[in-house]
Amino acid sequence: MIYDLIVIGGGPGGYLASERAAEAGLKVLCIERENLGGVCLNEGCIPTKTLLYSAKLFDGAKHGDKYGVSVDSIAIDHNKVVARKNKVVKMLVGGIRNTLKAKGVEVVNGIGRIKCISDDNFEVEAGDATYSAKHLIIATGSTSVIPPIEGVREGIEKGKILTNREILNLSEVPNKLVVVGGGVIGLEMASYYNSIGSQVTVVEMLDHIAGENDSELSEILRKNYEKRGIKFLLSTKVVRFTDTQVHCVSESGEQIELEYDYALMSVGRRANTDIGLENIGVAVERGAIITDPQMRTNVNNCYAVGDCNGKSMLAHTAYREAEVAVNNILGKADAIDYSRIPSVIYTNPELASVGETEATALKKGMDIRVKKLSMRFSGRYLAENEGGDGIFKLIVNNKDNRVVGAQALANYSSEFIVAVGVMIEANMTLEQVQKVVFPHPTVCEIIREAVFFEE
Ligand code: NAI
Repeated sequence: MIYDLIVIGGGPGGYLASERAAEAGLKVLCIERENLGGVCLNEGCIPTKTLLYSAKLFDGAKHGDKYGVSVDSIAIDHNKVVARKNKVVKMLVGGIRNTLKAKGVEVVNGIGRIKCISDDNFEVEAGDATYSAKHLIIATGSTSVIPPIEGVREGIEKGKILTNREILNLSEVPNKLVVVGGGVIGLEMASYYNSIGSQVTVVEMLDHIAGENDSELSEILRKNYEKRGIKFLLSTKVVRFTDTQVHCVSESGEQIELEYDYALMSVGRRANTDIGLENIGVAVERGAIITDPQMRTNVNNCYAVGDCNGKSMLAHTAYREAEVAVNNILGKADAIDYSRIPSVIYTNPELASVGETEATALKKGMDIRVKKLSMRFSGRYLAENEGGDGIFKLIVNNKDNRVVGAQALANYSSEFIVAVGVMIEANMTLEQVQKVVFPHPTVCEIIREAVFFEE
């Protein structure tokens, strides 16, 4: 049988593309080598949020006295937390399986490999079978980067050096955890293990944590965690692992040795492209599949969505890219705009961003003003964050008084940053936003406060 569409990969990009295409009446085959849900559901977004929620409850109990709540004895059972995480993951993966079945998507468990194009159809192998389709969506995701540091391979073999995959299932709480890379994964895992009692050191090559995020907010976040006991070694590189030590060198040449029982490698991810792309001539640049705003590759009728195109390695980007690809297959005009994709680091407090930061706007030569205010302008924030030092920034284009970005360091910002995304998408001016009614009291009222705020 010839399918209308073969999707290689059943993560957020692949399963949503399969679902949307089947809803539109296409005959779809989805090939997944492991579990549906991909990294996001099985070893990324969802498992980490489950762990971090338990840590948040535990921290809340530890510091309950600030809110007049005293708890005589509290404890966290890491293995129970992991067991609950597994239950949540199982439920969600089951949900995807059922949805795809209900929509009529055929799912094959196997490693998909592109063989050729024959009679204008893509031929893809999985296991012993070969499948054909008129259209192909590649949604193969990404894998942790393991830099060639001395001793890293031995450490991985001994189970002492971990990636995001293994660290979610540790059966013991490390005494000393070294986190290599202070980006999204590094910070979320450092946060969890710090909360549950590990001595955590984050080694970051740059002079700041949290990557491209607003530097002032990242610095406040870092200081918050420093107070809670995480040690940060900035402008520092790991040069060697031994069985008991992580050897680092700072930019100024200082040599630092850290004792460790586990280390997490969280220095970025690379696209999974070893699927026979060369057999049909799909172009790759710096390890990722080249795509245009319609998610097309250079090969006719072949699309690539999600981490494998390296554009924005986020599950919600993959969702949108999947829909764009399917719409284009269906002949409906659609294109992705990467400039309004929100990002969140689920530390406690969360760090959320959408659109331009002050730095990116200035780099583009935009004439902007930053409406910056303490999160304490929100009554709900103040009620729930004793001693909180969160900040909200709204970036406004002076040219037309339109909202172009926002950053927030505060809990619930993961939930409300989308409101600013909608304002950017709708091209709203400050005057228009001023007429929007926000529920009271909510943390998101900070947006309204910022809109009216003039220094
Ligand atoms: P990342 O790119 O966020 O951070 C990697 C960090 O490691 C950077 O700060 C980099 O400067 C540093 N680094 C690189 N080489 C180093 C070295 N040799 N020594 C010390 N530091 C070094 O990558 P990460 O954290 O691995 O995350 C991968 C992807 O997964 C990202 O694209 C991220 O957006 C996504 N992700 C998203 C989440 C979310 O949306 N909440 C959660 C987890 C992952």
